[in-house]
Amino acid sequence: MRHFIDLWRHDAAELRAILDDAHARKAARGDRRHGAADDDLPAEGALLAMIFEKNSTRTRFSFDGAIRQLGGSSLIVSAGDMQLGRGESVEDTARTLSQYADLAMLRTNSHADLDAFAAAAAMPVINGLTDRSHPCQIMADLMSFEEVRGPLAGKTLAWMGDGNNVCASFIHAAPKFGFRLRIATPAAYAPNSEDIERAIAEGGEIELLEQLDDPGHAAAGADAVITDCWMSMGDADEDARRAAHQSLQVNAAVMAAAAPDALFMHCLPAHRGEEVTDEVIDGPASIVWREAANRLHAQKAIIAWCLAGG
Ligand code: CP
Ligand code: NVA
Repeated sequence: MRHFIDLWRHDAAELRAILDDAHARKAARGDRRHGAADDDLPAEGALLAMIFEKNSTRTRFSFDGAIRQLGGSSLIVSAGDMQLGRGESVEDTARTLSQYADLAMLRTNSHADLDAFAAAAAMPVINGLTDRSHPCQIMADLMSFEEVRGPLAGKTLAWMGDGNNVCASFIHAAPKFGFRLRIATPAAYAPNSEDIERAIAEGGEIELLEQLDDPGHAAAGADAVITDCWMSMGDADEDARRAAHQSLQVNAAVMAAAAPDALFMHCLPAHRGEEVTDEVIDGPASIVWREAANRLHAQKAIIAWCLAGG
């Protein structure tokens, strides 16, 4: 069964092949309308079940568009509308949906629930964001970087902000794609140490800056500066988070410390005036709309890979 749960579970060649397919699929579409199908239809007849426990704009629409372009169809349901919301177990939900669908994409509060669903499912399962990771986002982000700047190997990506789920998937990706990852976070919101230790053990170059006197240090010479919201869905300690992250805002001074052609990246939604200024997100270095667009193409390659497993 080919699940797509976390980038660290895949070998580098497998992820490279998925990203190559994403680039090829995007190029092959030409100027077709978004609702028009691809020629090869690798998901012909396949039904994608999508369950959302949290809000979503990009993931929801891009997965729906992706399965249609691949020749399949989808059913999208909020978890609260299902018996899941009344206490039916994750495992029984997975067993039931496996009778109707050919693959599933879930956005869950708890990563453990996603793992439990995948273990009980008789179909491939894709992670559409959990509290621990967001692998589909990072595949789209890396695709976007490559389109603009070429190969990732040897490049330095600087993460500034919360050591959250998106940051975790960048950590998982670093040893697979050979980029250096510099992470500046408040000590209280540092990434999971297991993720960092695993990435380093796999040969990843990860640098963690928890004491940041000058935000420019985090961005110094970086090929891309990346951030995300300071409060993820489900986070409760809003005031403490906002206070702890103040010095990590990506603004013009931070971008000036990065490499001259550095990119600005953000998974969206952005909280303008908090983690990033308008000047940066709307400025020439920003590739945030490209990242949003590439969610579709990256996820098409992920879906095709999952279904090719049989
Ligand atoms: N980046 C992302 O996953 O966006 P949504 O929450 O809108 O799906
Ligand atoms: N870190 C954010 C990402 C949203 C796409 C969250 O989990 O809310």
